[in-house]
Amino acid sequence: MEIPFVFGKLAVDKDFTNRQEERKRLISNFSKLVNSVILSPPSWGKSSLVWKAAGEAVKSDKNLRFCFINAFDMQSEEQFYCTLATEVLKASANKMRVLNDHANELLGRYQPKLSFVEDNPNEFTLHLDEKEVKAQPDEILQLTEKIAAQHGLKFILCIDEFQHVSTFENTLLFQKRLRAAWQKYQHTAFCLYGNKYQMLNLIFADSSMPFYKFGDQLYLERIDQEEWIRFISKRFRDTKKSITKRTAAFIAALAECHPFYVQQLAQQCWFRTVDSCSAEIVRDAHEGLIDQLSLFFWSKTGELSGSYIQFLRALLHGVEQFSSKEVMKEYHLGTSANVVKIKKMLESKEIIELNGKKIIMLDPIYKSWLKSRYFKIN
Ligand SMILES: Nc1ncnc2c1ncn2[C@@H]1O[C@H](COP(=O)(O)OP(=O)(O)OP(=O)(O)O)[C@@H](O)[C@H]1O
Ligand SMILES: [Mg+2]
Repeated sequence: MEIPFVFGKLAVDKDFTNRQEERKRLISNFSKLVNSVILSPPSWGKSSLVWKAAGEAVKSDKNLRFCFINAFDMQSEEQFYCTLATEVLKASANKMRVLNDHANELLGRYQPKLSFVEDNPNEFTLHLDEKEVKAQPDEILQLTEKIAAQHGLKFILCIDEFQHVSTFENTLLFQKRLRAAWQKYQHTAFCLYGNKYQMLNLIFADSSMPFYKFGDQLYLERIDQEEWIRFISKRFRDTKKSITKRTAAFIAALAECHPFYVQQLAQQCWFRTVDSCSAEIVRDAHEGLIDQLSLFFWSKTGELSGSYIQFLRALLHGVEQFSSKEVMKEYHLGTSANVVKIKKMLESKEIIELNGKKIIMLDPIYKSWLKSRYFKIN
């Protein structure tokens, strides 16, 4: 039986909703070879959006080729280059002979060895001489440009969790090398995406950073409530169950339109629904979700010192003026310099986001857990 609503993996096909404007903008960037940068807090839908936009872009521009690379589990510069070479080869051809030709012709200096899995041209591992890769990666960096020029193609290199390159040894040198090579490209563009806080602080911190102002920067927002109502109602209907607009809105509101949590909560509601989903079911599913994550939230809170926890208590009490004397006294926040430090630290842990003067808690379920289970605020 089809189970609607997904979370923790890419939202594709029927599980993907909205983002029309962002898709349009990305497809246009891809086609014109404009670099894009996408930033958001965790789990707001960056990877799903890029995947979706790429799928649509290739339909309208047959010469586009996409490579998807995730920097998250890479340990070093060499690993980055080897993965890059593998993915570019994969995107360049789907015949074993052509792949071998490309590897030998364009990566010869690294003594390439391709091992195919069960003679499947789409699945292979590429072994390169790592010492040579490290000493002289330029030919790997030139790979898309050469293939594109030979075959009349355009390459888009999509690099997910890009902030992770900041953990490589000599990362600034590495970033400078990438930027210097990439800015000369004629047939290749980039789509870099990752965690907003870390990208802004580790990759684009100031104008001295190599990737500062690298491309068209897109800050992903949550998906609108109206869109969630439409989506949730449709997915219930598709699977022969029903939900009223009002109840669908209740799901979106409890999850504060956070894409991951709306999907997770909607799925929990769907499981509990026989025919028709009620507000009672939603409340029950929401409580269940809070309980499910409780251990994780206990340990997350255990890592915070007293004044950080007090700050969150004040925030959940609706406090806005944290530096007022009364507030600092009542919540034991110390001095106003300490308040600034607390805000910065909670922001770096991605518990809160500072939006102008507004302070937003990023995880709506953690917020509910703190309120109902930890502080017991009515
Ligand atoms: N456009 C969308 N339509 C429906 N659900 C979505 C959409 N975008 C994201 N989601 C939901 O959010 C979840 C997380 O999406 P995704 O992995 O794309 O986000 P991300 O920002 O790349 O996350 P991370 O920060 O972990 O890399 C998905 O599994 C899905 O449940
Ligand atoms: Mg992602």
